[in-house]
Amino acid sequence: MTRVCVCPGSYDPVTRGHVDVIERAAALHDEVVVALLHNPAKRGTFTVDERQELLADALHDVPNIRIRAFGGRLLVDVCREVGAQSIVKGLRSDTDFAYELPMALMNRRLTGVETVFLPGAAELSHLSSSLIKEVVSLGGDVSGMVTPAVEAALKERLGAGAAG
Ligand code: PNS
Repeated sequence: MTRVCVCPGSYDPVTRGHVDVIERAAALHDEVVVALLHNPAKRGTFTVDERQELLADALHDVPNIRIRAFGGRLLVDVCREVGAQSIVKGLRSDTDFAYELPMALMNRRLTGVETVFLPGAAELSHLSSSLIKEVVSLGGDVSGMVTPAVEAALKERLGAGAAG
């Protein structure tokens, strides 16, 4: 059996924390589908195409991944479509666990798909896309928290002098 899992997220944008968990998932599975889930009615900081490009750049060293975008879809339907037996979610803290557990139970109830929780690297546990965006918008340094391409894209979109 080919073991396929889905690593879902909005990836707006991808962080080193995401990359760490996806690499760990890739080491445990034959294939990882990095599923960029977005709400077509909501505008993110980056477009879906930009997020996909930044993901592809951040993950270019990981051979057994596929990056795909899905709008307005249930995660369990995405899992079915790509032939994944499980969902892998990174855990940073007990707060993440409390947030993720009801979703994992709901997803199992809907189709039987299992969720595997994978602790990420401790030194990355404070990272989130939203916190990193706030730091950039207020002029802080996020090098080491995101890839150089993401850092440049964030500065252009949100840094001092950016429109909006
Ligand atoms: O990176 P995020 O924003 O934490 O990712 C959240 C995401 C996209 C994984 C979550 O919102 C999700 O699973 N959305 C898909 C819609 C869905 O299936 N909802 C029911 C979940 S129980």
